[in-house]
Amino acid sequence: MRMRKKKHGAERIEACSELRIADASLMKDGFEGIFENNAPVHIEIGCGKGNFACGMAKKHPDVNFIAVERVSDVCCIALEKAKASADERERDNLRFLIGDAKILGENIKPHSLDCVYLNFSDPWPKKGHAKRRLTHRTFLELYKNLLKEDGLLRLKTDNVGLFDFSLEEFEAVGATVIWQTRDLHNSEKNDDNVMTEYEKNFSEKGFSICSAWVKFN
Ligand SMILES: C[S@@+](CC[C@H](N)C(=O)[O-])C[C@H]1O[C@@H](n2cnc3c(N)ncnc32)[C@H](O)[C@@H]1O
Repeated sequence: MRMRKKKHGAERIEACSELRIADASLMKDGFEGIFENNAPVHIEIGCGKGNFACGMAKKHPDVNFIAVERVSDVCCIALEKAKASADERERDNLRFLIGDAKILGENIKPHSLDCVYLNFSDPWPKKGHAKRRLTHRTFLELYKNLLKEDGLLRLKTDNVGLFDFSLEEFEAVGATVIWQTRDLHNSEKNDDNVMTEYEKNFSEKGFSICSAWVKFN
């Protein structure tokens, strides 16, 4: 997501410090020090402006959510949205991490996550950029190592090319697609669906949303 440099970005992020994991290495020993409980932890990679993370944290008070975004100005918007809606959350169960997904492997305890969400990840359509796709097998190996044995990867995208590529990559790493659709909003899972900014935008333009739920064991 490209965005004009925000004025006072650092100060605005600092003003939301209670919602931010400022140092990724704080997760190395697990999440109890961050959330002060042992509830399941779900992580969204590439959270954009934070609609999904805020919506999920409100809807599922018994789950802790971490939203990861590598562009600090984009995460600033998500942080401010989460701060403005703090009263809507039954529990203090949402945190943001500004950083690249690549750093998660060295900062999160293996097999400690219950769910990883990839929502409308950048498709990187050029063949030579395939390794940058968040469903490339190198990233899948990372998620496999971070997820608990029965953990779940949940993917949503409007991009059929990325969806097809992802299904091939799941097969290549021996992962099992336990559920999939090419029309999420007309599927049995739609009632529980929390929309992202991109999802709202694309579905309003008439695009169908593809989704897959994947297990690694
Ligand atoms: C197309 S946007 C989708 C945003 C949001 N998930 C949505 O559905 O509205 C993809 C987002 O993922 C972020 N992103 C891409 N690669 C990433 C990575 N390796 N680590 C963390 N964030 C990443 C981008 O900065 C961007 O904000």
